[in-house]
Amino acid sequence: MAHGRFDRRARALAARLADAGCVAPQEEADELIEAAAGDHDRLQRLVARRVDGEPLAWVTGTVTFAGNRVRINPGVYVPRPQTEPLVDRAIELLPDGGLAADLCTGSGAIAVALRQARPKSRVVATDIDPDACRCAEENGVEVFAGPLAEPLPIELRGRFDVVIAVVPYVPTDALVYLPRDVREYEPLLALDGGKDGLGVLVPAVWAGAELLHGGGTLLLELGGDEDRGLADVFEAAGFDAPRRHEDEDGDLRGVEAKRRPSSAPALG
Ligand SMILES: C[S@@+](CC[C@H](N)C(=O)[O-])C[C@H]1O[C@@H](n2cnc3c(N)ncnc32)[C@H](O)[C@@H]1O
Repeated sequence: MAHGRFDRRARALAARLADAGCVAPQEEADELIEAAAGDHDRLQRLVARRVDGEPLAWVTGTVTFAGNRVRINPGVYVPRPQTEPLVDRAIELLPDGGLAADLCTGSGAIAVALRQARPKSRVVATDIDPDACRCAEENGVEVFAGPLAEPLPIELRGRFDVVIAVVPYVPTDALVYLPRDVREYEPLLALDGGKDGLGVLVPAVWAGAELLHGGGTLLLELGGDEDRGLADVFEAAGFDAPRRHEDEDGDLRGVEAKRRPSSAPALG
């Protein structure tokens, strides 16, 4: 009987979430009920926040990313499923006992996935936003506060096997096309890639060149035709021609590029 009541409550909640425009109302209802842990008043407060458009992960405090449950504090970018294939590739490339960097780590979700899959490796991360650094730390990530490679210990430079970065890469004039919830809630610092979207991507290529050893790989998430704008930068920074990662619709989702063994130290 209690089970039937629970189902009815979940269905009513799902209907309310659907009315508010949530695209996966049943799953969201289940997550909110779980987060409320049987506290009716708390459930009402959580639902009200979600109906207002606040990201589900901020309301529940967690998200599952690459198979790991990760804490997401309000104000911190919510990791996206579309990033997971790039993370899978980074895991393939990272030897056990290797060294990896997750630049622009946000909640630290990518670093958590790398460390989980390669427990003997050292995974370090950076982010410019103190709230993101705090969240990554709460997720157990070894995080350094500051831009791209800058805050990482000098003795690690030139020793990384893998560098991965999901930097802000949405061109400023395309921000307006993002879903309303994203625009209204998620931090601009996590999204805005500047005039052509390359404002952080270009320095990220140079950061990768500085960190990787010859034969190490840089993986970047990007979109549109941003790979074209980076081709010369990869060449100048001492990388082989980058390989495109596309999704099932053929849309560009990322690139990976190998640092040339013989290249001179990067001066980016
Ligand atoms: C799109 S979010 C990605 C977060 C995380 N990697 C993920 O996939 O969930 C970009 C992150 O980059 C950070 N950021 C923006 N500019 C930065 C910079 N110049 N150096 C380091 N981090 C930066 C933001 O604070 C934000 O956390």
